[in-house]
Amino acid sequence: MEKNEMEEQKEEDDQIVNPWEVAGKDGGKIDYDKLIDKFGCQRLDESLISRIERLTSRPPHVFLRRGVFFAHRDFNEILDAYERGEKFYLYTGRGPSSEALHLGHLIPFMFTKYLQDAFKVPLVIQLTDDEKCMWKNLSVEECQRLARENAKDIIACGFDITKTFIFSDFDYVGGAFYRNMVKVAKCVTFNKVVGIFGFTAEDHIGKISFPPVQAVPSFPSSFPQLFPGKDDLRCLIPCAIDQDPYFRMTRDVAPRIGYQKPALIESSFFPALQGETGKMSASDPNSAIYVTDSAKVIKNKVNKYAFSGGQDSIENHRKYGANLEVDIPIKYLGFFLEDDAELEHMRKEYAAGRMLTGEVKKRLIEVLTELVERHIRARAAVTDEMVDAFMAIRPLPNMFD
Ligand code: TYM
Repeated sequence: MEKNEMEEQKEEDDQIVNPWEVAGKDGGKIDYDKLIDKFGCQRLDESLISRIERLTSRPPHVFLRRGVFFAHRDFNEILDAYERGEKFYLYTGRGPSSEALHLGHLIPFMFTKYLQDAFKVPLVIQLTDDEKCMWKNLSVEECQRLARENAKDIIACGFDITKTFIFSDFDYVGGAFYRNMVKVAKCVTFNKVVGIFGFTAEDHIGKISFPPVQAVPSFPSSFPQLFPGKDDLRCLIPCAIDQDPYFRMTRDVAPRIGYQKPALIESSFFPALQGETGKMSASDPNSAIYVTDSAKVIKNKVNKYAFSGGQDSIENHRKYGANLEVDIPIKYLGFFLEDDAELEHMRKEYAAGRMLTGEVKKRLIEVLTELVERHIRARAAVTDEMVDAFMAIRPLPNMFD
């Protein structure tokens, strides 16, 4: 029997990255260089980052400066078009499987907010309540409820309501969106989805038929209320690299149905507290810090679970210093401590053994508590009416202003 892409991936490098599973080889770190080669995406290099800075007249986002967003597909073409005065739209999403988002989920949303502000472009956000209903042991009603709860966390990231449409699949799929789904589905054989996603004959057909649902928001004609007559508008998808398989499929199909391929800008994973072998995951509460965690819970999780690269005794630590390669507190600060000089100073002192794990964790607890408390305040201000307003099917007349 022919091996599928996933089996080959397992055999070749034992590193698994797909929408449902992320694990490094032999419990080690994810090798992102290998992923770029394997998936066939491009590295986001310095020249692209300086181009973004020049085109938007803003300093590059900390996630760009620190290499959190590290890979892309045709992002250069989006910038070429933008430079010529052509616009594009952003598309991202969330699979509502838990009550609250964790810090890893915030990364693409924080970055998407920056892109929306910097390029002044519209954004569509898909809530795949159908996906989670089919993959998890959750009812239709529960997934719809979680979608609305998650929408509040997403809105709390600060998106501009005049440029943003949030939709749930259960509510929105139909019409032009559905017609595009059928066009995509006709181009993808069973063997192809088995190759890309690793489905087996035991998987129910709901899973097998899902990929077109996540594919078609990449096409402007799926949103006739937003982009009438703009079938050539380019789409840029910010996400973590686990979602790449969906869009490899989408890009493969697009030209065959007369559409533009979506471009992507992809991030690495915000790691679990226990270490960089996988992504922070909602399925293991002790691996994750949620955007609803109290200051006390954050302090406890960081102190108890955050894997330290420090030495086992103070004497050894002063002598050998910390191993920053495996240290989670330093890694987390790399995502969320904005001050480059302070981060550099901490890295140097900690690696030399002059700073102790306890001090680094203390600073991390401050940074995360501030971030989460700010989020909790913003989320408390999001009303049900605001959720309805973001999710209303409507034109966005000033979306490019
Ligand atoms: P979901 O809900 O698993 O994740 C939502 C977004 O968060 C990213 N992500 C992470 N980023 C950094 N570090 C992590 N530890 C981490 N965990 C998750 C995901 O890549 C994603 O961008 N099927 C999708 C929903 C979806 C979607 C999309 C996502 C529909 N259309 C278009 C991105 C783009 C899902 O279940 O995402």
